[in-house]
Amino acid sequence: MWLLKLINLALLCFGLILESDSAKILGIFFVPSISHQIAYRPIWRELSIRGHNVTVISPNILNDSSLTNLTEIDISFAYDILGKFDLQKNAAKENFLVKNFITIHNMMFSVMHAILEYGAVQDLIHSDEEFDLILVESLHPLVFSFGARFKAPIIAVSSIEVFVYIYDIFANPTHPISNPDMMMYFEREPSFIERIRSLTHNVVSRLCYYWWILPQSDVLARMYFGEDMPDLEKIISNTSLLLINRNPIMHSPRPNVPTVIEIGQMHIREKKNLPEDLQTYLDSSEKGVVYFSLGSNIKSANLSGGLQEIIKQALSELPFDIIWKWETEQLPGKPDNVLIREWLPQQDILGHPNVKVFVTQGGLQSIEEAVVNGVPMVGIPFWMDQFNNVKILADKGMGIGLNYNTMTKEELRKAIFEVATNSKFKKQLEKAKNILLDQPVTGLNKAIWWIEYVLRHKETTHLRTPSADMSFFQYFMVDVFAFLLLSICIFVYLLKMAFRMIVGSKNNKIKTN
Ligand SMILES: *[C@@H]1O[C@H](CO)[C@@H](O)[C@H](O)[C@H]1NC(C)=O
Ligand SMILES: *[C@@H]1O[C@H](CO)[C@@H](O)[C@H](O)[C@H]1NC(C)=O
Repeated sequence: MWLLKLINLALLCFGLILESDSAKILGIFFVPSISHQIAYRPIWRELSIRGHNVTVISPNILNDSSLTNLTEIDISFAYDILGKFDLQKNAAKENFLVKNFITIHNMMFSVMHAILEYGAVQDLIHSDEEFDLILVESLHPLVFSFGARFKAPIIAVSSIEVFVYIYDIFANPTHPISNPDMMMYFEREPSFIERIRSLTHNVVSRLCYYWWILPQSDVLARMYFGEDMPDLEKIISNTSLLLINRNPIMHSPRPNVPTVIEIGQMHIREKKNLPEDLQTYLDSSEKGVVYFSLGSNIKSANLSGGLQEIIKQALSELPFDIIWKWETEQLPGKPDNVLIREWLPQQDILGHPNVKVFVTQGGLQSIEEAVVNGVPMVGIPFWMDQFNNVKILADKGMGIGLNYNTMTKEELRKAIFEVATNSKFKKQLEKAKNILLDQPVTGLNKAIWWIEYVLRHKETTHLRTPSADMSFFQYFMVDVFAFLLLSICIFVYLLKMAFRMIVGSKNNKIKTN
């Protein structure tokens, strides 16, 4: 009998230990883009394996029955909403930064509406579930509402650089010349015009945020979460940490406050075997292989007819074998040296030694995959940060960038040929790869450590820089400068008066003399 009691007690203690170590975590990773989701999936997978009870809202759920501590809410319908915006046609041109910014946020509002209206999400919002921590993808302010709804600390996560207003939450420096916004890019010595553009962009995107996005989100937060929601700006300003995917190859170094943590290469995994047909194709290629994929948002099959023709002809004239990610079954007039597939295991293809060039749209995750495999690139950017990424590739000698609006067949052919045959690109990639992989800890382990850090301490006010709680006037010392300027003015004025008096009295003396 006492033995049984003892065992019971032991089990109870064991259970308590487990209990205290495992937390209830809610993750809202809502952007319908596989390149975002593949960066986040390792986080929620790992957290659940480590014994945390994880609930996730995502358009790309893992759906892995062996992950018993994981509950996933599938919002893959969000892809259809993004599809309606027809990125191929509407991809705003690089120059119209503000238009681009507005397009992105209009898209995100549509997606947010659909997700928050969705039955399973509404059930969650109105359930009596409790959570110890909320992880949110930082691309829309509305998702931070979950933090207030469940009265839990929030960690913001981003698979790409963030807009200036997200850095503002943590008072992370956003110097428009030293570290321009993710949609701006210039080389180290920006011209006068570029400096004006960058500052203007920082100011205008903040105005859009504080006058349009944030107030509208606040109204929606009340609509979907209830009238008793606190002010959204207050909720957001209380965010504990930002985990952001940045790396020293693709981003210029920046000063970060202690609550902004750079993680990297979240989705890079161990090599897997290729499907047999692809393995044979790659192994047997004597001339080398060009891998062509514009990622998941921009579908080759939806490009304009003219552009498709240019690509087809350029590829057909190259002395290489080509693997093209083409999203329908047929490619009319498919050149003989081209193999098409609707879906391809990109990381494993790039890991094959016969791959010479990767033609990419320049998404960050694709570039990370190319860099860790040492494959030089030809970049054809379409939107968002892709323009920046491709310019960086070109500047750092890791590839050649092209403009899809003006690209000719000859340009594309020459660029691919040059990158495939000139060894300077490959050398540059080897160097970049060595830098990227030389880290004290992997991006995933770093992310998990910081997430559990917030679970242990419940908040991070001890890491918060005082400037995060200052007003614009305090931060820029407007009153101090105004006072000093006024003092100088008064001083100069008094000096002038004194001078006049001295000169005046002298003149008087001369006169009387
Ligand atoms: C689920 O969590 C428990 C602890 O709560 C842990 O021991 C177990 O390994 C986890 N299971 C899986 C499949 O991750
Ligand atoms: C801020 O977050 C902490 C948890 O990290 C929470 O206890 C507190 O109530 C939050 N404050 C506001 C104003 O939301």
